[in-house]
Amino acid sequence: MFKNPWAQNPWFESVAEAQRRAKKKLPASVYAALVAGSERGLTLDDNTGAFGELGFAPHVVGHPAERNLATTVMGQPISLPVIISPTGVQAVHPDGEIAVARAAAARGTAVGLSSFASKPIEEVTAANPQTFYQMYWTGTKDQMVSRMDRARAAGAKGLIVTTDWSFSMGRDWGSPEIPEKVNLKAAIRLAPEVALKPRWLASFARDLPDLTAPNLVPVGEKGPTFFGAYYEWMKTPPPTWDDIKWITTEWGGPVMLKGICRVDDALRAVDAGVTAISVSNHGGNNLDGTPAPIRVLPSIATAVGEHVEIVLDGGIRRGSDVVKALALGARAVMIGRAYLWGLSANGQAGVENVLDIMRGGIDSALLGLSVPSVHDLRPEHLVIPPGFVRELGVPATVLS
Ligand SMILES: Cc1cc2nc3c(=O)[nH]c(=O)nc-3n(C[C@H](O)[C@H](O)[C@H](O)COP(=O)(O)O)c2cc1C
Repeated sequence: MFKNPWAQNPWFESVAEAQRRAKKKLPASVYAALVAGSERGLTLDDNTGAFGELGFAPHVVGHPAERNLATTVMGQPISLPVIISPTGVQAVHPDGEIAVARAAAARGTAVGLSSFASKPIEEVTAANPQTFYQMYWTGTKDQMVSRMDRARAAGAKGLIVTTDWSFSMGRDWGSPEIPEKVNLKAAIRLAPEVALKPRWLASFARDLPDLTAPNLVPVGEKGPTFFGAYYEWMKTPPPTWDDIKWITTEWGGPVMLKGICRVDDALRAVDAGVTAISVSNHGGNNLDGTPAPIRVLPSIATAVGEHVEIVLDGGIRRGSDVVKALALGARAVMIGRAYLWGLSANGQAGVENVLDIMRGGIDSALLGLSVPSVHDLRPEHLVIPPGFVRELGVPATVLS
């Protein structure tokens, strides 16, 4: 059989290469929606840049012959300390969330499924039983209860509650216009940029990208469009700490509160009864100027590390970033853009490729540091420059 000598090897060796391939494959506005952050992108840049400020102090002899990467998050055993962060409408690939769930299952880890996901939760939990359902505070309490009931019936193993989103409209990168429906009218408007990416369009030969949110309604009903869902979300009064307590009690199982940046909020989250917190700024999509999660992690870990599981997300692009987060007090990390680029570049295999890159990088760092297990990582394994850490909202009682 003829083999094209110029055909690109579908395997990639770094997340940066997955990003380059995603950029080549996707229409410009779809790619822009994945990479962008709010306003000037100060937080977006700090999320990745801060990891570059941290160093390692490796050993030359005495390395452990075997390294243990396994841990648990919200009761779920995972083979590496990396799980899939929920991201909405994964229409970068026709199999979207299903491909991501299968990839995570194949690599022994859990997925967070966004409430703005484009695939029904029942199909996602069938692909990966270790699914956490992510909810925004949107709609009435009755609607929220009905969504939790559906997620529970589908077998979701936990709830991720996301409340950090600032609805910033002024994006210096120029927010792309996302069509409400991918119909003929939208196709004609997007034609110039989509025409440049015929392979992306061809991959949707069976179905055009689905821009509805099926998990916001009971099984069998037609979900709202992404814009309908967004409108409902914006007109819902934001939650109070009592509401967080309510949702925790109502779910009755493990809950993660996502988006914590401050020590006082972490302490309140513990009071509200959550199992886990995610130290996060929504990947640079909340208030621009918020410090990178890795900078605020140490003070939060000191304050609540013994009372709650701490996960970090934002800026993770390699296994060594994961090791830095674990050394500063996280139990595991969640990745967002890294797997979305893998999904765009090569579907399920691309997400598996990204998880393998993470696993390889974590293992290399443990080897170099002579640390046999992810559970043994400590701040002393890092070179932390003066002024690196940010301590936000530290109550006087914790300071004294
Ligand atoms: C395109 C995109 C969509 C996202 N959608 C959601 C969402 O629906 N729910 C949510 O909790 N977080 C969402 N996030 C935030 C991610 O879960 C995660 O916090 C962030 O991507 C982590 O930063 P990283 O992309 O640098 O890894 C989204 C992020 C991106 C980039």
